[in-house]
Amino acid sequence: MIKNNLLEQLKSETLSNHQQLEKNLILKLKEMASLQDYLHILQIFYAYFGALEDQINQYIGADQLSDYAARRKTLSIKEDILALNGIVPEKATAADLPVIDDVLKAFGALYVIEGSTLGGQVISKMISKKLELATGEGLSFFRSYGEDTMAMWDSFKVVLESHANTQHEADVITQAANETFQKFKVWMEK
Ligand code: HEM
Repeated sequence: MIKNNLLEQLKSETLSNHQQLEKNLILKLKEMASLQDYLHILQIFYAYFGALEDQINQYIGADQLSDYAARRKTLSIKEDILALNGIVPEKATAADLPVIDDVLKAFGALYVIEGSTLGGQVISKMISKKLELATGEGLSFFRSYGEDTMAMWDSFKVVLESHANTQHEADVITQAANETFQKFKVWMEK
């Protein structure tokens, strides 16, 4: 019963934060006029997702999510930045991040990272149109799983819901997801 509710709870209770973040990012994408502007967006993602992933790695590995290694995003952001001759920034610090001190909170944060692959499909098209990155250089992060995106999302959701066996656990995951969205919005506005 509760298991089926986790995904609904996550979606509905993080909707407002998702919409605010989406609005901010779309604005940035609309204002983007040069490769330098795109690099800046990649640097924002690298610093926040990179630091977040380091936290998540302490609680989630192949035991908790069998294909976790294939899901890591920081390396692809770094490769995109380097492919476009940009500078790889420092990662964000603990003060800029949500508190991740157990596996449930790690899954809440990972929900936000994995979910970003869904928007990534729209975002990568916007970017490649605007900047004419025809050969796809510098787009691997936003393209993420490409045509496998829905399948990867569906299999992530199955594992995610297996980790919430009580309402309390579902609340902890949802709270961490919301904090991850909120702190990212603050980071993006910095
Ligand atoms: C231009 C920016 C963005 C657009 C256009 C966008 C768009 C979307 C779309 C179309 C979906 C699928 C909705 C559905 O099929 O039900 C989605 C889901 C999601 N997005 Fe975004 N997104 C954006 C940015 C982001 C970012 C930056 C993050 C995270 C940092 C994010 C996290 C999520 C999550 C977690 C979901 C899953 C919701 C659920 O079904 O539980 N999105 N987004």
